Amino acid sequence: MSKFTEKVMLIGNDTVQKYADADMAIKMVAKTWEWYGRGEIIMPPKITTDMSSAGVAGWFNSMPCYVKPYDIAGIKLVGGYDNNKKKGMPYIKANIMLTDPNSGMLKAVVSGDWISDFRTGSQPAIMAKHLAYKTDVVTIIGSGLQGYTSLLCMSRLLDIKEVRVCDLSEAARKSFIAKFGNARFTLVEYTDNEAACRDSDIIITVTNADAELVKASWVKPGSLVMTMGSFKETEPEVVLNADVIAVDHVAQSLHRGNIKPLYESGLITESSFDIEIALLLAGKQKYVPSPDKRVYAQIVGMGCPDVVIAETVRRRIQEQTSNNNYFDMQS
Ligand SMILES: NC(=O)c1ccc[n+]([C@@H]2O[C@H](COP(=O)([O-])OP(=O)(O)OC[C@H]3O[C@@H](n4cnc5c(N)ncnc54)[C@H](O)[C@@H]3O)[C@@H](O)[C@H]2O)c1
Repeated sequence: MSKFTEKVMLIGNDTVQKYADADMAIKMVAKTWEWYGRGEIIMPPKITTDMSSAGVAGWFNSMPCYVKPYDIAGIKLVGGYDNNKKKGMPYIKANIMLTDPNSGMLKAVVSGDWISDFRTGSQPAIMAKHLAYKTDVVTIIGSGLQGYTSLLCMSRLLDIKEVRVCDLSEAARKSFIAKFGNARFTLVEYTDNEAACRDSDIIITVTNADAELVKASWVKPGSLVMTMGSFKETEPEVVLNADVIAVDHVAQSLHRGNIKPLYESGLITESSFDIEIALLLAGKQKYVPSPDKRVYAQIVGMGCPDVVIAETVRRRIQEQTSNNNYFDMQS
């Protein structure tokens, strides 16, 4: 028999949503980025396990971190699974393990589904708050789940007047617009990306496409383009002609998403990036939005905000409920 106990809280997705909301997610993502910019988080670059060459239509990332100001360690496992949608499950699937940084004892296993989706949506909201010159007209290309959380979180921080919704799927466009039935901005369905992007203040791509969805000639001065999908989403010139290039994480940005092919062909290097959002939030970089500048941002996502949101949920449950359902890993 073990001489110690290892009390682990199992926190499901419904429970997460009782103790978390979009405003908490946005606040904790911004806080975590600031801590990361101050050098208070240890986070090796994520490792991708792509199973497609072995015949499995999926990949998953292992994303460990230690967050000193929160005294928590953990790892997020998140993947994309092509066959999930047919079975009524989301494309993205995530779980988070929280551990005591001093002993390695497991503290909680937390569903990462809601957390990952709202961490993802918080990112363009915070980026746009700091980098966008104007926020009146927003174009979203990709009206799936991450597109939904992105607009929901953006609408919490930005004054938006019109949203242009593009997606290959008419059903996806229509159900997206229906979800924002009470919005204070108008939503307009577009089938032509060019028409949707021209004169737009903010363009977000959040698809699972590997295609040039946005062309540089459609992007006006003073606008902000943010790509969030896992593969190529714009013509190379959208990045190369930008006056300012921002990322959420330099090393990860080189190996993922829209920038990956540009890095591999030598068109973008580590020194191409003007802004790392974490350094901006930590006060180590400055940026004043300008009507003349085209800003491009790639957001690939980091695991540490998910760990911080999961730990916030765990602490809230511990504080607010007396009878926690612990599992003893030593039993
Ligand atoms: N950057 C991050 O932090 C982060 C986090 C999670 C997921 N992702 C990525 O975001 C992307 C979207 O994930 P999701 O969960 O919203 O998936 P989803 O399947 O719910 O939505 C994707 C949408 O993109 C649309 N689409 C595909 N190809 C298109 C094209 N050529 N033009 C227009 N629309 C197109 C699909 O019809 C679908 O509606 C994926 O690439 C995923 O890996 C990024």
